Parts: sequence; structure tokens; C-alpha cells
Amino acid sequence: MHKWWRSAAIYQLYVRSFADGNGDGTGDLPGARERLPYLAGLGVDAIWFNPWYPSPMSDAGYDISDYRGIEPVFGTLADADALIGEAHSLGIRIIVDVVPNHASDQHRWFTEALAAGPGSAARDRFWFRPGRGPGGDQPPNNWQSIFGGPAWTRVTEPDGSPGEWYLHLFAPQQPDFNWGNASVRAEFEDVLRFWFGRGVDGIRIDSGALLTKDPRLPDIATGQPPGPAHPYSDRDDVHDIYRSWRAIADEYPGRVLIGEIWLPDATRLARYVNPGELHTVFNFPYLSCPWDAAELRRVIDQTLALGAPATWVLSNHDVDRIVSRYGRADTAFSLDRRRYFHNFPGDVELGTRRARAAALLTMALPGSVYIYQGEELGLWEVQDIADELRQDPIWRRTNGADPGRDGSRVPLPWSGTEPPFGFSPTGAAHEPWLPQPKEWRDLTVEAETANAGSMLRLYQDALRIRRSAPALGDGPMSWLPAAPTVLAFDRMPATAVAGTSAVRCVANLSPTPITLPPHATMLLTSGPLTDGLLPPDTTAWLRV
Ligand code: NOJ
Repeated sequence: MHKWWRSAAIYQLYVRSFADGNGDGTGDLPGARERLPYLAGLGVDAIWFNPWYPSPMSDAGYDISDYRGIEPVFGTLADADALIGEAHSLGIRIIVDVVPNHASDQHRWFTEALAAGPGSAARDRFWFRPGRGPGGDQPPNNWQSIFGGPAWTRVTEPDGSPGEWYLHLFAPQQPDFNWGNASVRAEFEDVLRFWFGRGVDGIRIDSGALLTKDPRLPDIATGQPPGPAHPYSDRDDVHDIYRSWRAIADEYPGRVLIGEIWLPDATRLARYVNPGELHTVFNFPYLSCPWDAAELRRVIDQTLALGAPATWVLSNHDVDRIVSRYGRADTAFSLDRRRYFHNFPGDVELGTRRARAAALLTMALPGSVYIYQGEELGLWEVQDIADELRQDPIWRRTNGADPGRDGSRVPLPWSGTEPPFGFSPTGAAHEPWLPQPKEWRDLTVEAETANAGSMLRLYQDALRIRRSAPALGDGPMSWLPAAPTVLAFDRMPATAVAGTSAVRCVANLSPTPITLPPHATMLLTSGPLTDGLLPPDTTAWLRV
């Protein structure tokens, strides 16, 4: 079986903001289906869809009320089937998001649990506990929600009295499942089979390190690191779940499990990609890394040492868009520092130059690569969304201290010179669910297709070369001697194929132009050379 995930270019499609087929201002599956030829032309091998299931959208679809359906605003199961079939006929694989840590509070199991009352089997599928203190009016422990505020909400019992509390590591509308409960395990195994059986090629596992909890629900100590002693993050018992999921995936040839495992410690991360567990994990250390040669090299080496197929990710729907981030004085990213970053306006021109260089660097590395929709257009983080339009629960739960993630989720510009830029069909009854900056007129797919120097044309060229050069994608890599501010490496075909050659990648992160190393021909550069030299913040692909 061809191990496609080892080298695939995977496009992250955020359904709400990709393309609106019916004019209601929200992206949908018919809209995505219409644009599949665009993605085929871009040259991607797979699409990862953010959650497309029925959801009250308290957390943009990460609050699922039915794991086997399609959100009516997005379309129908028939639309999903048609989309999967059509993507396959274009040679594109489909990955769906599964959210096993928590459901929506509108999920049937949760409404049943509320109605069934304390001590019931229905409540055991979640984490219901009496409160502490007189009258039980204090949360059962000191855990905080990742979105801000306490991780517990108190319910009113069916008889109208103040009742138990339930756990939600994210928003109150996202109650956490109790993975110690056998019916929860059985349910998700069935959900996996449901989607694999419909022809889906991969599952992205949301919040993959958080599923299991210490059933004693102890208070957490400040700064307690994830690991076996942590009450809910990266506990050893989570691996048992992934071993059984892997056995299911293996029943369907070519299907993969991809973990969203946000852990700082590479040794702990490596355990998730042990044989018999997940195929790959998202590379958050790379995504968070500053635009700095030494730091990048350290993260690249650490990633390759994991001993599993590497993934390379520059951005996603949870983080600031790369063009904005790379244009700031501090180019690193971490979730807990987002609130500070937004205060830095950023230099979009500098950020764009660096994002172009980063794109070529990233696509030359050994492994698979993720492209978050709009990254290929060089869209920036929209920082001036009016407060009343913001939808991210992070914004609300931190009382606006953290701007949240809406700025990276603004609907894509496709064509034309003013909003909705072809996102919705002509004559659409509604405006896009978040406003698009008018300056995006120069960043539409249409405008960038016509502009040889655009980000889109760079991504198209890079993906075409990456796909056709046997040295790129999966395979060996070796560093070349270079100044500490320069990243230079060779990629060689894994097996010697007659007529194929190595590809040499050089990224100049220094403040001065550099001489290119020896090469036969130039394949692609992220920006023009100056007097034959590679300028700062520029990457070149060379044939040797
Ligand atoms: C990670 C997802 O990427 C994010 O968007 C979501 O809010 C949380 N998990 C909770 O599901």
C-alpha cells in the first residue's frame, strides 16, 4: 500500500469560510465541491475538513451534536458522499475531524444525562460531580477552562433544585466525555467505522492528549506539566484508546489517524506515533517556532528524531495568520501569548516575504505538509473585527482580553473587486459571516492567478515541483555546512532512480544577501535574486 500520508500536501478546509454555495453567507459543502478543481489545480493530495457535523456552533463546530451527520447549514450527508466521490475522482483524499474529548451540550446523550439526574448511567458518560462547600455551590475542583473561566458549570436538576456540576475543558457548551465509560469507547469506535466506511481516508483527532482524566478529579498544581501525574493531559491511559483505534483503521487499507497532540515535550509526543498507534501528529513545535534559523533547525532535527513520518504546519484555524506573525518583532507563537501579539501591528510586506520563504523551506522538508486555507493567498490576520461580530468563545470567556481566533477565519476572497469577493454567489441574500477587508481585492484567487509574482503562483509552482521531484516529499535529508543564520540542506530520492537528482534548499534568514551554494539549475525562489545573490528572508530550490 502506498503510504500517501508520508509525503502528502494536505489542504485544511475550514468549511464555514471556504465557499458559500447557497448565498447564506456561510461556507458549505456544495460550495466546497464546486471549488474542488481549484484545489486540484493547486496541487494538493488531500483535504482535511474541519468539523462538518450538526452543531449549535458554540465553538465553530467543535461542539458536535451528532457525529454521523452533516450540519444542515453546510449541507447533507448526500453532499458529503458526493464530495468524497468527486474528490477521489480528482485524486484528492479526504480527512475529517473527529472530536472525542467533548460533545455539544445539545448532544442526545447530554440532554439525556441532564434529565436522568445524579447517579444515573446517562450521567456517567460525562463528568458530573457534586460541588464543594456549603450547598455545593463551589466547583468540584480548581481546573480552569482552556477558553478561560472555570472548567465546571452547575446544572439545575429536573426537580428545579441547584444540582451537580459537569466538566468542560473548553466552553460550557462542550461537556467532556468520560472515557472510562465503556459506551463512550464503543460509540467512537463505531463513529470511526461510519466515516471510514463512507470512504474517508483519514481522521484528525481533536484535542488528542486530553481524553482521559484521573477519575479522582484532583486539584491541579500550578504549572503541573502534562504526563502520567497530570489529572487530564497526556496521561498514559490515553494510548490504550489509540491502540484500539489503530486496529480499526488498519481494517480499511490506506486509512490514517492524525493526532492533534499539543505537547511541548518531544519525548512524550513521540509515544503517540509508536507502532500500533497514530500514523502522524501535527507539528506544533514547528508551527510555534520563531523565524530564526537556529530555532528552526533545532525543531526540524527534533521532529525528524521522532521516528515517525514528519508533518510540517505553518498555520491553522487556531493561530494567527503567518503573514501577520512573521511581520512582528516577535515571530514566535504560543496560545497563551496570543493576547499580547495582537497589540503589535506587524509589517505585512516583511511578513509576506518571510511567509514566501517559509513556504519553500517547509515544502522542501521530508514529510507531509499542511496548508491552511488562505495561506496560499497570503491572507493576513484580520485584527480589526468589530467586537459585536466576534464569535470565538475565547473572546467572550476572557472578557475580550484574548481576541480569539476569528481573525484567521475570515471568508476567502475568490474573485471581483469588492466583498464578498465571490465567496457567496452573485445576489446572495446575506453578507459573509465575518467581514472581509476591502484590501483583499488584490489577494483574490482571480487576481493572484493573473499575477506571476503572487503567493498563489508560488504555492502552485512549489507544489507542482514537489510532486514531480522524487527527492522531495518523503525521504532522506542532509544538512549542508552554512552560516548559523542560513538553513541549507539536500534532499535525495529515497531510492536511486535513473535521471533523478537531488534538490538543494537554501533559506537565508540573515540580514544580508548570501552567495548560493553550487548547483546545476535554479528550480524556484521565493523572491528575486539581487546581483546573483540570495536576499534576506528568501529561499531557493536548486537542482544539483
Ligand atoms: C482544537 C481545535 O483545533 C479548536 O479549534 C477547538 O476549539 C478545540 N480543539 C476544542 O475542540
